[in-house]
Amino acid sequence: MSFCEPKKDCELCERLGIFRNINRQKFPQYYNGPVPAFGELGAEILVVGLAPGLNGANQTGRPFTNDYAGDVLYPILKQNGLARGEYQRRKDDGYELCNVRITNAVRCVPPENKPTTAEEKNCRHFLAAEIAAMPNLKVILSLGGISHKNVLQALGLKQSQAKFKHGAIHDLPAQKIKLVDSYHTSRYNINTGVLTYAMFDEVIKKIKELIERG
Ligand code: URA
Repeated sequence: MSFCEPKKDCELCERLGIFRNINRQKFPQYYNGPVPAFGELGAEILVVGLAPGLNGANQTGRPFTNDYAGDVLYPILKQNGLARGEYQRRKDDGYELCNVRITNAVRCVPPENKPTTAEEKNCRHFLAAEIAAMPNLKVILSLGGISHKNVLQALGLKQSQAKFKHGAIHDLPAQKIKLVDSYHTSRYNINTGVLTYAMFDEVIKKIKELIERG
């Protein structure tokens, strides 16, 4: 565990703590704790999701792992040379990120996948610490509007400074980083055609270009 991570029994959010205890009773074999980031702190790219899924990251203890959203995210990272090994929906599948770290705006699974604004706020300190602890960070990829909003807040920036738009690249010169937006890779977005694999692949390709250009 790094200093950017909450304690396994974090009590900052009452509702999420209650939900965690219910899930510990119901699913004792699950991870059931704040899910730590995945990937090296030395990475140049940080992907920020929303929150762990109940039977996904909350079960496996690795962001997006065993979540539908990970079935989209992980293979596309690999196709673009940003991971190695085969993603198999398990924490011990040997899948490794290359130059990428993945975290969530909210570390604990929220009921119905919906964190409250207060829960986002309680957890933001960890996101801010995570960002500050990445010495080589060049690009943050926000998956969805809530991630985008929380990244800006974690950086101490106003929402008017960068409006969420799929595919947008926001230059944040004071922070020496670029914030890239994508629709979330959720089942809902894929099933409704809001986001396609091709659209997400294009976003990842843009990020690779940004990194390679330096
Ligand atoms: N969706 C997210 O945003 N994050 C996860 O870790 C899993 C699903």
